[in-house]
Amino acid sequence: EHLELSSGPVVIDMGTRSCRVGFSGHHSPSAEVSTLVGYQMGSEEARSEVVIGEEALLYPDSEIMDVMHNGLIINWEAAESLWKHLLEHELRVNPEDHPLLLTEPPFSPTCSREIIAEIAFEVLGTPGLFVAPQSVLSVYTHGKISALVLDMGHAATRAVPVLEGRSIAYSSKQTDVAGRCLTWYLSTLLEDMGHTLSEGMSHVVEDIKRTCCYVTTDFQSLPPPGSHTTDIFLPDGMTLTLSKELFQCPEVLFNPPPNWGDSFVSIQETVQKSLAQLPKEIMPTVCANILLCGGSSLFKGLEKRLCHELQSHLPSGTMVEVVGSALRRHAAWTGGSILASLHNFQSCWIRQDEYYEVGPCIVHQKCF
Ligand SMILES: Nc1ncnc2c1ncn2[C@@H]1O[C@H](COP(=O)(O)OP(=O)(O)OP(=O)(O)O)[C@@H](O)[C@H]1O
Ligand SMILES: [Mg+2]
Repeated sequence: EHLELSSGPVVIDMGTRSCRVGFSGHHSPSAEVSTLVGYQMGSEEARSEVVIGEEALLYPDSEIMDVMHNGLIINWEAAESLWKHLLEHELRVNPEDHPLLLTEPPFSPTCSREIIAEIAFEVLGTPGLFVAPQSVLSVYTHGKISALVLDMGHAATRAVPVLEGRSIAYSSKQTDVAGRCLTWYLSTLLEDMGHTLSEGMSHVVEDIKRTCCYVTTDFQSLPPPGSHTTDIFLPDGMTLTLSKELFQCPEVLFNPPPNWGDSFVSIQETVQKSLAQLPKEIMPTVCANILLCGGSSLFKGLEKRLCHELQSHLPSGTMVEVVGSALRRHAAWTGGSILASLHNFQSCWIRQDEYYEVGPCIVHQKCF
């Protein structure tokens, strides 16, 4: 039984730093919005007005909610406001007209899908719903069904093996080494140079990280090959001259300072821990298909260095290939877009009538 579609499905991919939304069939999302939900305190009724995205920061009297923590949704009321905003204001559609595919981060508790279904059907009035793991969707984007996804996001980096379209939970691993701590680390490097940037300048540090930082192939030799100096002109008229800081920042991915604690494990060790728990016979397939995904995987030189680090730690003769494709930034979203537009997928939607017949637990029956 196919869902009668009046109009195309919408895909939403949630992240700690930003959420991506767009129509299925497109290869990239129509909008990317910062995961910020602010409630402006009205004079009479608290939480009178909801402000979404960067705009929330413009209201000094608004209370900003943490929608997500370490990649997982923790505030469902805020998530609901965010989804409404994405549909009604970013895409300008009526939520009742479009089936919704939502991505699910690794390590999500089972109940989170049920809550998603409750909100989608009972609050948004969605005609159809599907929830799919981000890792599996990222693998589809690359035209594969088996691989190891290394999703390097803002709050965390996760290594998730996917075998024939199914993510393997028991050998998925996570580390706190990701975009957020890199931005913080870069700001401490700048402070050490005597540049204390005011709070309003935090986006400047993130911009420097995104546009100028790079991974060296050889951190041991100083200066590393290809290192250079870059002048950065700040909005306040100052000029920053950066050189070793540009590679010291992303070096944390491979060598997190030991005093940061046990949850900050290097990315190569995170991959190795994941591989170590896989059955021997599937190791070759997975090692030859390590897919970099997420915003923090965009550093220049990352693929080469990671490949080198892995090769030197895995049994000799292991064929390692690290893929950093042009699709990596929005890999999970794009995979959702592909899946939702496939003809054979149309019978997979949870329909509204099915939801009301079975209840929220239908997500466990219909979604993989
Ligand atoms: N070109 C770039 N180079 C390095 N880092 C980047 C680049 N572009 C974005 N980032 C970083 O990537 C992070 C955001 O990545 P992404 O959108 O995958 O995370 P998220 O999905 O919001 O978070 P999470 O998956 O942890 O919940 C931010 O920390 C951002 O600074
Ligand atoms: Mg993410």
